[in-house]
Amino acid sequence: MQVDTALLYEYFAADDTKTNQPDAPRELVERLNLERIPKHVSIIMDGNGRWAQARGKDRSQGHKAGVAALREAVTTSVRLGIDVLSVYAFSTENWKRPQAEVNLLMHLFATTLVRELPLFHQENVRLMFIGDLTQLPQATQDVFAQGLEETKHNTGMVFALAVNYGSRSEITRALKLCCKQVHDGTLAIDDITEDTIASRLYTAQLPDPDLLIRTSGEMRLSNYLLWQLAYSELYVTPVLWPDFSRWDYLRAVIAYQTRTRRFGGL
Ligand code: FPP
Repeated sequence: MQVDTALLYEYFAADDTKTNQPDAPRELVERLNLERIPKHVSIIMDGNGRWAQARGKDRSQGHKAGVAALREAVTTSVRLGIDVLSVYAFSTENWKRPQAEVNLLMHLFATTLVRELPLFHQENVRLMFIGDLTQLPQATQDVFAQGLEETKHNTGMVFALAVNYGSRSEITRALKLCCKQVHDGTLAIDDITEDTIASRLYTAQLPDPDLLIRTSGEMRLSNYLLWQLAYSELYVTPVLWPDFSRWDYLRAVIAYQTRTRRFGGL
């Protein structure tokens, strides 16, 4: 996507508060290679609970602070000219959390989505979802449907929210779809290719992530986009999600730009 460099520099200049790192902000922005911006950035937003705990607050406060960090990540992605931002908001395993926390997250997803619709329009962002939404509370599903409908004509960045998402169940679902087609004679086993599987994943319309960012230092994929991340560059930062600023995002993209991607070749 086209980068508006004036807007980009203005955006970073507007926040030079979080410069507690040795690399000064101006120097950081100058290190960015506008010719090598990742097309698809995906984020595992981790550490809301620890952020809250460290401040003697309830976990819910961590999730609320996480919403603000996500808002900033959306804007930063648009300013950087990224085509797709996907984020892991709720996994198929997250249902095991206390009911009150699950309810709060469902409520946060819905209220945030409605509140941020003007931002999505202003930034020309199109919303999409990854995951099995049929298991979500009806009120959450309704708001998600409204978000999809209202942003469907936006032509800028795609913002993909993974909700009730699990990679193994996604691949199992794709496999079942293939098996059904083989069974009813519309797909021959010998015609099954990697594309046959990929086109039956929730991400069928998206390119694979170029860069996966995980916050809060955990070195694992947590059942997230296992197929799609096959050749993605991984970037793990100890920063907890609510503290993840536009500068941290910039550092991740600059680190990505130093990597040599070989996709298994030489
Ligand atoms: C991980 O932190 C975060 C989540 C499971 C939820 C992510 C949700 C948000 C960032 C809130 C807003 C999202 C949207 C889409 C509006 P954790 O609770 O696992 O933290 P911990 O590992 O420190 O306990």
